[in-house]
Amino acid sequence: MKAVVFHGIGDIRLDTVDDPVLRQPGDALVRITSSAICGTDLHMVRGTMTGMQPGTILGHEAVGIVEEVGRGVRNLMRGDRVLVPSTISCGFCAYCRSGYTAQCDTANPNGPLAGTAFYGGPKPTGPFDGLQAQYARTPFAHASLIRLPDDIDDDRAILMSDIFPTGYFGAQLAEVKHGDTVAVFGAGPVGQFAIASAKLMGAGRVIAVDRLASRLEMARQQGAEIIDFDRDDPVQTILELTGGIGVDRVIDAVGVDALRASQGPAAANQQGSEREFDEELREIAPQRNEQNGNWKPGSGPSQVLRWAVKAVAKAGTVAVIGVYPENDRFFPIGQAMNRNLSLKMGNCNHRSITPKLVELVRSGSFDPIAVLTQREPMINVIDAYKAFDKREAGWMKVKLEP
Ligand SMILES: NC(=O)c1ccc[n+]([C@@H]2O[C@H](COP(=O)([O-])OP(=O)(O)OC[C@H]3O[C@@H](n4cnc5c(N)ncnc54)[C@H](O)[C@@H]3O)[C@@H](O)[C@H]2O)c1
Ligand SMILES: [Zn+2]
Ligand SMILES: [Zn+2]
Repeated sequence: MKAVVFHGIGDIRLDTVDDPVLRQPGDALVRITSSAICGTDLHMVRGTMTGMQPGTILGHEAVGIVEEVGRGVRNLMRGDRVLVPSTISCGFCAYCRSGYTAQCDTANPNGPLAGTAFYGGPKPTGPFDGLQAQYARTPFAHASLIRLPDDIDDDRAILMSDIFPTGYFGAQLAEVKHGDTVAVFGAGPVGQFAIASAKLMGAGRVIAVDRLASRLEMARQQGAEIIDFDRDDPVQTILELTGGIGVDRVIDAVGVDALRASQGPAAANQQGSEREFDEELREIAPQRNEQNGNWKPGSGPSQVLRWAVKAVAKAGTVAVIGVYPENDRFFPIGQAMNRNLSLKMGNCNHRSITPKLVELVRSGSFDPIAVLTQREPMINVIDAYKAFDKREAGWMKVKLEP
C-alpha cells in the first residue's frame, strides 16, 4: 500500500510499504477513506518533537471502513464505517473508565507510565504506524473506534478524528464558564475549534491571536475579536480590551513551534529575550533540516506561554493543548505562581469527548465544515505537507484522500 513514511527530520516520503495485518485479538484492520495533516505532524518533521523512529508511518487522523476484526472485537464488523480517534485507549483501565483516555494504562507498549499512545508518533508514544496510508491496524478497536452515522460525510468526520475534540478539550481544561472572556492563541485548525468550543460552553467573548490574515479572518467569522501580533502587542491589547483586567481563560493552541514577535510593539516590548529564545530552540531541537523555507522550527518556543500568563486575569486559568515535547522545560512559572493561576494541559481524551461531538454534528447543532479548506489526493501529499508547513494563505485544514 501507499503511506507517508518518516525517514528523518525534514525527510518524509510517499512510499510503498507492506499492508498491515491483525496482530492482537482487539485489533481491527481499517481501509482509510480520509486522512489529514495536523500541526502535530509538523513538529515531528521540523525536529521540535524528537524521538521519531525512521520507518514510522505518519498521521493520526482518519475515517475508514472496517475490513477485518480480531475475535476480541464484538461491536464492529467488516463494512462498518468508523472514525479513528488519534489516541489509543483500552476502555478497561482505571484511567479509561474515568475518562482520561489519553492516559490509558494499557495501550502504550512502553508501559503505564509512558503517557499517551497515539498513531504515527515518536518512540515513547508506541510507536504505532500512522494513518496517512491506505490501510491501518487499529489496536483496542472495540474501545477506540467510533461507528459513524451515515449522515455525517467524511469531510465533517475527519475533523472529529483529532482537532474538534482537541479544541473542545482545550475549552474544558480552561474551565470556560458562561460569560467568560477567553483568549485563544493560535488561529490554526485547532485554535478554530477551541474558539468554537469556548462559544459552545457559553463564553461571553473570545479573543483570537495569530499573525496570519486568513486565519484571523476565519476566527472573526466565528465571532472572535482578533489581534495580529505583528501589529499589536497581544498582552497590552488584551488588557486594553478587558478594562485592564485580562481574560478569564487562555487556551494555547500553538505549541512548541510558536513564533516570537519579530516586529511591531510586541517585539519592542520584549527586547533582550532573543537570546533566551535562541537557547530554548537549541536545546529543544538540536537537529534540524530546513529546506527551501520548509521545516523551519518556530522561533520562540515559550512565546505563547510567556504571553498567556500575562494576558490572563489574576486567578485565571491557562490551558495548554499546543504540543510541547518531553525535553522542553521552559515555562514562566514565577509569573504563574505569583498571580494564582490554574494551569491545565495535556493530550486530548478523544475517546471520552468525541461521541458527544459526533451527535452535535449529526443533529445539525454545530457544523465544523468551514475549517476544512483543502482536499488533496494522496499522490500530492508531500506538496500538501509543504504548503501547510509554510502556512500558505487559505491553507487551513488539509484532508488527504488515499
Ligand atoms: N493536545 C492535543 O491533544 C493536540 C491535538 C492536536 C493538535 N495539537 C497541537 O495543537 C497545536 C495547533 O495545531 P494546528 O494543527 O492548529 O497547527 P498550526 O501549526 O496549523 O497552527 C498554529 C497557529 O499558531 C500561530 N502562531 C504561531 N506563533 C504564534 C504566537 N506566538 N502567538 C499566536 N499564534 C501563533 C500560527 O500562525 C498558526 O496559525 C499544535 O501544537 C498541535 O501539535 C494538540
Ligand atoms: Zn492531529
Ligand atoms: Zn485504558
